[in-house]
Amino acid sequence: MTGTSSSSKEQARSPSADGSSAKPAPATGLEGVVVAQTSISTIDGSAGKLSYRGYDIHDLAEHSTFEETAFLLWEGRLPDRGELEAVRRELREQRALPPEAVALLESAPRQSNPMAVLRTITSAIALTDPDADDNAQPALRRKAVRLTAQLGPIVAGFHRHRQGAARLEPREHLDYAGNFLYLLNGREPTPEEARIFDVCLILHADHGFNASTFSARVTVATLSDIYSGVTSALGTLKGSLHGGANEAVMKMLLELQGSGESPEDAIRRRLERKEKISGFGHRVYKTEDPRATHLRRFSEELGSQRGDGTLFEMSRRIEAFMRAEKDIYSNVDFYSASTYYQLGIPTDLFTPIFAMSRVAGWTAHVMEQLANNRLIRPRSEYVGERNLRYVSLEQR
Ligand code: COA
Repeated sequence: MTGTSSSSKEQARSPSADGSSAKPAPATGLEGVVVAQTSISTIDGSAGKLSYRGYDIHDLAEHSTFEETAFLLWEGRLPDRGELEAVRRELREQRALPPEAVALLESAPRQSNPMAVLRTITSAIALTDPDADDNAQPALRRKAVRLTAQLGPIVAGFHRHRQGAARLEPREHLDYAGNFLYLLNGREPTPEEARIFDVCLILHADHGFNASTFSARVTVATLSDIYSGVTSALGTLKGSLHGGANEAVMKMLLELQGSGESPEDAIRRRLERKEKISGFGHRVYKTEDPRATHLRRFSEELGSQRGDGTLFEMSRRIEAFMRAEKDIYSNVDFYSASTYYQLGIPTDLFTPIFAMSRVAGWTAHVMEQLANNRLIRPRSEYVGERNLRYVSLEQR
């Protein structure tokens, strides 16, 4: 990463109001601030390591499934055979949306932002959930399953609605990932496509105290409810500095593909204009994001399956250029963009798909927060005017 190092930023000191003493400057963006303990996931930014409940993400990507990973995040351990079957069954049983939510979904204007639809319908599900305000752990666990089961059908249901196509019923023999692709495209995915998408869901399921997870924890720490926490998280994920980056990457790749300009020249011009290149850089990783390693491989594999490696080639060139020019690595969003695109997923659904995986992590964090809760309420450094006297309207 280029620029001022985080430690020097954190160590910067500013004079106090009367200039007589120095006090620490605020850690802008809360960089480097440890706000709580967690046992859900941990990131080693300099070694490029991510683990969920002690299991390395590479191990999970190779051997686990999204359903099993969700159980691991919620329960803190891998399930035995019976527990795995039970969580799979619960996720299947809970995936039907309440009729009120379906009616609202189908009344959404077709041009709506899919993240805004997802945020709205998720919030609306609470209205028909008798458990909505129960913050006891068993109720939270039930709602974690319900929310995780229902986010995918909301995303697919809205896509079918905006296309004027009929909503499809899930297929029993397909797992969570395969069903989503079927509900979205109306075609059963190949086993390879389903496995790639399943691993994408595993890779996105949790990531420490990222912005959306933190907002979910802040919300429930007031003793609000899990739906409010997940709705806050969805609003936070929507932004282009967080979950929205994968969509921005795809727009950039398609624009570059259409322009005929060399990717290196195009990226150089953007950097000269001081633009941030989406899909690069990370607050925590200062080396390769371990999730990018898998997504790069998927992007390449899907390109060769389709007999068209141009998107992958272009991505590789951009990645090499960013390393050479800025010493910045690609993040999870860079190759997830071309992976999702080649799976036939529309660009504006990339962030909702991120959400349908991350909801497993958000709900695990809600349970952890409420198991040992304290209101989250930081302070700010006031830099505005002081001691002004009120001036009447006539005298202003
Ligand atoms: N393109 C170009 N330069 C970048 C960059 C990018 N994507 N990401 C970071 N940098 C540069 C910054 O310009 C800055 O340089 P400077 O100190 O000379 O000004 C330096 O690296 C540090 O960046 P900063 O924005 O302070 O880091 P941050 O920790 O606040 O932000 C991100 C992290 C992720 C928000 C930032 O890297 C970014 O905007 N990336 C693009 C969006 C993205 O892909 N988000 C998804 C993250 S998973």
